[in-house]
Amino acid sequence: MHQETKPTDGHSRDGVNPDVLEARYGNRFLLEEAPAEKLPAAGMPALDALRLVGEELVIDGSPMRNLATFVTTWMEPEAQRLIAENLHRNFIDHAEYPRTAELEQRCIRMLADLFHAPGETTGARTQGSSEAIMLGALSLKWKWRERREAAGKPTDRPNLVFGGDVHVVWEKFCRYFDVEPRIVPLKPDKYTIGAEDVEPHVDENTIGVAAVLGTTFTGHADDIVGINDYLVELKRQRGLDVPLHVDGASGGFVWPFLYPHSEWDFRLEQVRSINVSGHKYGLVYPGIGWLIFRERSDLAEDLVFYENYLGKRDATFTLNFSTGSAKVVAQYYNFVRFGRDGYSYIMHTMQANARKLAEDIAAIGDFAIIGAEDAEQLPLVAFQLAHEQSFEEFDIAAQLASERAWMVPAYTLPPKADHIKIMRALVKETLGRSLTTALAQDIAQACETLKQKGQVHHTERARVHTNSGF
Ligand SMILES: Cc1ncc(COP(=O)(O)O)c(C=O)c1O
Repeated sequence: MHQETKPTDGHSRDGVNPDVLEARYGNRFLLEEAPAEKLPAAGMPALDALRLVGEELVIDGSPMRNLATFVTTWMEPEAQRLIAENLHRNFIDHAEYPRTAELEQRCIRMLADLFHAPGETTGARTQGSSEAIMLGALSLKWKWRERREAAGKPTDRPNLVFGGDVHVVWEKFCRYFDVEPRIVPLKPDKYTIGAEDVEPHVDENTIGVAAVLGTTFTGHADDIVGINDYLVELKRQRGLDVPLHVDGASGGFVWPFLYPHSEWDFRLEQVRSINVSGHKYGLVYPGIGWLIFRERSDLAEDLVFYENYLGKRDATFTLNFSTGSAKVVAQYYNFVRFGRDGYSYIMHTMQANARKLAEDIAAIGDFAIIGAEDAEQLPLVAFQLAHEQSFEEFDIAAQLASERAWMVPAYTLPPKADHIKIMRALVKETLGRSLTTALAQDIAQACETLKQKGQVHHTERARVHTNSGF
């Protein structure tokens, strides 16, 4: 409820009406609760609205200190300018904005080339990897149904095989689109999956297998080569053609630059589609993802909608319709601005800082780093307490947040590794060397505090970030 709390009822001390004073010096909202339930009957001056909203957001966490998120928290001023200048352009209006549509197509072609597509292909700009995964998996389902119908076989029990190390969006797809999820549980000492894990779950109703390049949990990759080899063998021996989709939400922009010789993409025969988040290591602000098919024929034709719009035949393949163009423009800006050597430099810089942070955290003496030093991994540090202590990872996350406002999540792994607790710090462009040093010192300090005071209070713990899916 709004409460009118004007300092006087009609006149201020010097006899001037408070409304006049308010208009001259202050803002109505300073003495009122912000509108929260009903559309206010009357508005307020633009500057007041700017302050009301802006000042409220200041008490949110600072994205720069959010080491939980994979999503980009800094872009160059020139990119920001392009974004600001293109906020009013609806991406779906292809006929009116053909150059914007062309920029999307250029990005798709560049990504297809980066991922070694064998020839001409197709893809789509999406809201993020989640939409890309929904669309990619729908195409798997439709293509599977086509194959089954052609063979005169039933199509009522599709299943999708993936590991417990996937992002929640894969389960969401299965629930929303009526597909049986066949989830390979993790093991207490292995947090990714390989061919031997997948094999028992695949059958003729399998629409596809999903493998992750850079898991949300520890940043490592599934054994994509092994899974591909198994699926190739399955095709040769049993004639079962089960496609592989690679969820490269984070890894799709990291592996090509840090591990160019590691094969995970269309160089592998069964990899038919790949999603990648432009707003993660594509280095664009939130709101852009990409779905890339190996060949045009991997996109089920039935999923494409054609319409005649202002005299132009337009094909759409999205879950949404209207959406902004700014992030497509920003993605293309990054591609031409950074090129291969720019992305490569930035990824190597993040990796070097992640390795230094891992060294510094190990040097504290309380922690074990997760994963082998030479393992292919996203630029992040996943770590856990090495010994029994009077406190645990969730306490450290809470203590670190209260002492230094760092957002470093603590969480447990998926079944059957769910007794394992992990902390994880993303090392992005904005976490330069002096900040990784500061972060390691702050982690050490938080541990010192906890050694003296014991666990944090359960109310403090309740505020800890206990999820990994960002
Ligand atoms: C492996 C993986 N897949 C999918 C997603 C969902 O991506 P988005 O947030 O771009 O929708 C994430 C997000 O963290 C992810 O890490």
